[in-house]
Amino acid sequence: MNRTFFIETYGCQMNFSDSEIVHSVLISAGYTPIENYKEADIILMNTCSIRDHAEQRVLNRLKEFSFLKKKKPHLKIGILGCMAERLKEELMLLQQSVDLVVGPDAYRNLPSLLNTVESGEKAVNVLLSEEETYAEIEPVRVGDNQVSAFIAIMRGCENFCAYCVVPYTRGKERSRDYETIVNEAQKLFDQGYREITLLGQNVNSYQYNDVNFAQLLARVAEVNPLLRVRFATSHPKDLSDELLQTMSQYPNICKAIHLPIQSGSDAVLKKMKRKYDTAWYLDRISAIRRYLPDCSISTDIIAGFCSETEEDHQNTLNLMETVGYASAFMFKYSERPDTFAAKNYPDDVPENVKSRRLTEIINKQQELSLKSNQSDVGKTFEVLVEGVSKKSNKRYFGRNSQNKVVVFNHTNEKIGDYIQVQITDCSAITLIGKRL
Ligand code: 5AD
Ligand code: SF4
Repeated sequence: MNRTFFIETYGCQMNFSDSEIVHSVLISAGYTPIENYKEADIILMNTCSIRDHAEQRVLNRLKEFSFLKKKKPHLKIGILGCMAERLKEELMLLQQSVDLVVGPDAYRNLPSLLNTVESGEKAVNVLLSEEETYAEIEPVRVGDNQVSAFIAIMRGCENFCAYCVVPYTRGKERSRDYETIVNEAQKLFDQGYREITLLGQNVNSYQYNDVNFAQLLARVAEVNPLLRVRFATSHPKDLSDELLQTMSQYPNICKAIHLPIQSGSDAVLKKMKRKYDTAWYLDRISAIRRYLPDCSISTDIIAGFCSETEEDHQNTLNLMETVGYASAFMFKYSERPDTFAAKNYPDDVPENVKSRRLTEIINKQQELSLKSNQSDVGKTFEVLVEGVSKKSNKRYFGRNSQNKVVVFNHTNEKIGDYIQVQITDCSAITLIGKRL
């Protein structure tokens, strides 16, 4: 019997990368992916637990799928990923429509779990593993990006930042065999991809046998000079000079570093258990500027963490200004059950104060992004062409090494080409230029 499946993915890039593994596992077992969920025999939701809002979105969408199941009783619904891990049986007990709950380390088991489900029972596997890296599973690339792909190089996280659910949902940190990573990069290049992003919760602590992250990056960069290499995410505590040196030696390693600060207050960083202070962080920023003068720096910031004072908040705004981030992801603190913060600190910054601080942070970043883009006007960048601009089909867009989106008038370039673009104008989110 040919069964069809549909996967909807929420959350971080790692989750999107996992969905490609799930596609691969299910296709190998004889299932067929389809694009319209209304026609699917199986709907899988690959979920995120990072903030309460992320979970609520999934639960709302689940209601729609459950409604569909009422009309189509043979439909099977599965919850994968971080919510599966965090909520486990709770999902099974409280959500009648859910047939299957599978954590991020159990995707190889999906075919056998689906067999159980087909026989009318429910199935759960939320075991976390200390070894699983899906190393030799060849992901099935989904979506329409033919230029840029993700490669997961490690899984899990053991940093235990006080606010974060990830160590609980994704388990122990483990690195994937570098040979399988290099082979995957080579294969993608041969298929026509021109950019890969190496993914991990903390890529800087990658270690497989005697290969560390800087060495892995060099090996991947050597696959081909026309293959751009990016990576995310870096933890400030592990950002080494060796890595920065390697980045400076290979023009195809993109000059963009995502370095989450979370807060600009030492007192808050300490409570967050981030294992660095602002002096350490700013020293790493100086090192980036020293080795890579044209590198862009982006960050993550949490507004309103437990006991954050107005002064702490002001320090965050000041630090943003000092670093001059090119872009940032900014969030209100959302207490996650069972984390160190949830167990030990009251979530005591009132909602309206969190919102106001977040708005101030976003406004500050808007200013800084505009400033950063304005400083690029007049410069010329190599741009990897990615596609047609959303606003007008006469315009194409791509990215420069710094990961900034560059829009330009289309002439004869094709998706996947490298072109030289001189920047003539900008907004806070895009650079606008003309092809040279
Ligand atoms: N509340 C708000 N933001 C969070 N992040 C992680 N956990 C939480 C939380 N409980 C943010 C951090 C992290 C990014 C992926 O999500 O900024 O870097
Ligand atoms: Fe990714 Fe974290 Fe969300 Fe899990 S909880 S999907 S690891 S962002």
